[in-house]
Amino acid sequence: MTELIEIKNLNKSFGTNHVLRGIDFTVSQGEVVCVIGPSGSGKSTLLRCVNLLEQPEEGQVFVRGEDITDRDCHLDDARKHIGMVFQQFNLFPHLNVLANCTIAQTTVLRRSAAEAEQVARANLDRVGLNDKVTAYPAQLSGGQQQRVAIARALSMDPAVMLFDEPTSALDPELVGDVLTVMRKLALDGMTMLVVTHEMAFAREVADRVVFMDDGVIVEQGPPAEVIGNPSHERTRVFLKRVLDPTHVEPT
Ligand SMILES: Nc1ncnc2c1ncn2[C@@H]1O[C@H](COP(=O)(O)OP(=O)(O)O)[C@@H](O)[C@H]1O
Ligand SMILES: [Mg+2]
Repeated sequence: MTELIEIKNLNKSFGTNHVLRGIDFTVSQGEVVCVIGPSGSGKSTLLRCVNLLEQPEEGQVFVRGEDITDRDCHLDDARKHIGMVFQQFNLFPHLNVLANCTIAQTTVLRRSAAEAEQVARANLDRVGLNDKVTAYPAQLSGGQQQRVAIARALSMDPAVMLFDEPTSALDPELVGDVLTVMRKLALDGMTMLVVTHEMAFAREVADRVVFMDDGVIVEQGPPAEVIGNPSHERTRVFLKRVLDPTHVEPT
């Protein structure tokens, strides 16, 4: 198996807050890995270190064997291979849907306008939004905006897609459309690292689930084990809380 992402002894602090405490893990080509864990456990920071939106103090991140934390590594080149989808969509509000999906292609990848448009349209088709190319983000629902964000990331032909709670900002009735698009991507063989609280999605789509708490990986494995039959008390407590929000731990 080819390791697409390899993370070694990753450490990140914000001031005295030691947020990532020696994270080691890998994502293989074609693998779908879901990261779960309580708020504040370091999930977003981990994703942000993988595309160097945060610089770790210690440890290394290899993408396709290249150490992107090496100071000689060219950041834009490294990031080209990594698509990122955020909770808050982060579309360009002044650009229409098509332009949102072409701008980085023409500026970063130096594709011609015609080629960029062709690629963008194909990806907008994939996420079911080919009828919205001339719309502006403000004219779309949250679920549609998130699907544009996915099409935009896909248009860069990434080797891996990172998702940071892609459905957490959506009204409940819009979550399904986004998860459907993500499920399809997974079936197409896309390598995906997904931070999510959607346990049903993780159970169905993930090849592996990683449970993080307090800056460390507590346990990881197939969803049926980590979600279905966790071996650590911390995982059990977290899952109870997520699966039954009314549950109160006895003190
Ligand atoms: N840019 C930042 N500056 C300072 N502290 C931060 C920053 N980003 C995250 N943190 C802190 O790092 C910890 C982990 O945050 P985060 O990675 O966002 O967790 P999660 O995504 O699991 O909720 C939290 O204590 C958070 O307050
Ligand atoms: Mg987060």
